[in-house]
Amino acid sequence: MMENEMIDDIEEIILTPEDIEREVSRLGREISADYMDKDPLLVGVLRGSTVFIADLIRHISLPVRIDFISISSYQHPSPGVVRIIKDLDEPITGKDIIIIEGIIDTGLSLGYLIRVLNLREPASLEICTLLDKPARRILALNPKYVGVEIPDKFVVGYGLDYNQKYRNLPFIGALKPEIYQGNR
Ligand code: IMP
Ligand code: MG
Repeated sequence: MMENEMIDDIEEIILTPEDIEREVSRLGREISADYMDKDPLLVGVLRGSTVFIADLIRHISLPVRIDFISISSYQHPSPGVVRIIKDLDEPITGKDIIIIEGIIDTGLSLGYLIRVLNLREPASLEICTLLDKPARRILALNPKYVGVEIPDKFVVGYGLDYNQKYRNLPFIGALKPEIYQGNR
């Protein structure tokens, strides 16, 4: 019914639920090892990272805190113009921060976020992204934790949307181009 309707819009499965589980548990293990004697704060970038961060924290064997930030990027007046819609609830000065993102595409949103968060002088600031789409990168970023590199396709599911739809698909799939018609 509902799910089938969404599945009809998918051209190709990029990551199955099992693929996702494998990557998320690997990332959780890496973070657990790297932050063994620290007290990291995971900053989820709303809304695409919500499903990912929910699973990721259950694969981290340390006491972690989470907070969320919401940013909006605009193609007009110019791409890369970003603003904060909802700021963090807690200060990050002196803390070890890991930004949790669902996907990096051009890198412009995260580039902005990193500049803003660095002004608050955290002890450290790293990036963890489930998906990386390097083909369209405009701003060079150096994410410490990357799940999977994907080809230049518009993907949805596992938190990622097109027009606020498809976030609840349990897999990640490429959307049929006729659905977004060049309008990413
Ligand atoms: P960037 O600033 O171009 O790196 O864009 C990052 C943001 O765009 C992500 O946080 C997503 O919200 C969105 N985005 C980029 N590519 C995709 C995609 O393939 N599917 C869904 N959302 C995407
Ligand atoms: Mg989106």
